[in-house]
Amino acid sequence: TRVPPTNPEGMPVVPPQDLASRPRRNRRSQTVRKAFQETILTPDNFIYPIFVHDEGDENIPIGSMPGQDRLSFKTGMIKKVAEARAAGVNQVVVFPKTPDRLKTPCGKEAFNPQGLAQRSISLLKDTFPDLEVYTDVALDPYNTLGHDGMVRSDGVILNDETVYYLCQQAVSQARAGADVISPSDMMDGRVGAIRQALDDEGFTHVSIMSYTAKYNSAYYGPFREALDSAPPPGSEGWKIPKDKAEYQMDPANVRECLRESALDEAEGADIMMVKPAGAYLDIIKMLKDNTTLPISAYQVSGEYSMLKAAAAAGYLNERAAVLESLMAIKRAGADLTLTYYAIDAARWLQDS
Ligand code: PBG
Repeated sequence: TRVPPTNPEGMPVVPPQDLASRPRRNRRSQTVRKAFQETILTPDNFIYPIFVHDEGDENIPIGSMPGQDRLSFKTGMIKKVAEARAAGVNQVVVFPKTPDRLKTPCGKEAFNPQGLAQRSISLLKDTFPDLEVYTDVALDPYNTLGHDGMVRSDGVILNDETVYYLCQQAVSQARAGADVISPSDMMDGRVGAIRQALDDEGFTHVSIMSYTAKYNSAYYGPFREALDSAPPPGSEGWKIPKDKAEYQMDPANVRECLRESALDEAEGADIMMVKPAGAYLDIIKMLKDNTTLPISAYQVSGEYSMLKAAAAAGYLNERAAVLESLMAIKRAGADLTLTYYAIDAARWLQDS
């Protein structure tokens, strides 16, 4: 029989409240708290997005994303991915930086078998055969007009013609050894067309992670700086839509995401993505409740930059805030999270 501790001096002595239920009992120790933790972060769920360039041997820092570089093809990229694997992160998505001289209005570099994306995928798979390599399918890093689809001179973004090119891009990535093809372009019908194109070429084992609910978001700004892929102002006789609102979803909308997801499921997607993540937790939750497919969420460049900036200013504890943000994304229903913090977070999880 233990004696209850006495009150510190000066504390009022009050009779206990008559409470049957005291939720704090289940929070009373670290062991108990851990036992009841509903969401557990693990690096197994992280996908690390990498930027790759082929203009020399040095990594090139990305100004608006402190701590992230455009990695040099070969040395920088292999070193960084080895680092990720050592921390327990075994999934990457590859974004090549296309030099201006290789950009054309249609973005044909996207399916050049010797393109930087294709060479990066091959080198990664040759070096790390069990690494899961995801690719991005869209034309914006490869064309002069900065749009995910082809832009006609009158400013119309061509859907079906774009899908025709996206299929070639997807097949070229599968030939290079990609494990998962991720269309981020938001053209109609692209998942089904890509599935068919992959199957026709014998790539039935290659998965598709569809950017199902990709919002027309201001949080992609730093990414567009990293790849220099923002739509330019219109030039001689060429009208260029100033943003991506014609194909990316309106941040005001929820139900549209169910429509997109029904299509993606029917068209053969293996994984469905919500993007951005932090400001769209309700969308993650809704999608999770309405599908049996795994859900991924992309903590995008702007989310990373905000956390970095607040941490650098001393306004936030970076480690705690980042782990909390990743926890929230998983709690909302994300099975996979794409995050530029993957390596840091994996390390923080290791030593906690
Ligand atoms: C390409 C693409 C974008 C991102 C991923 N794939 C940019 C865009 O749609 O403008 C953004 C990722 C990020 O901001 O981290 N279509």
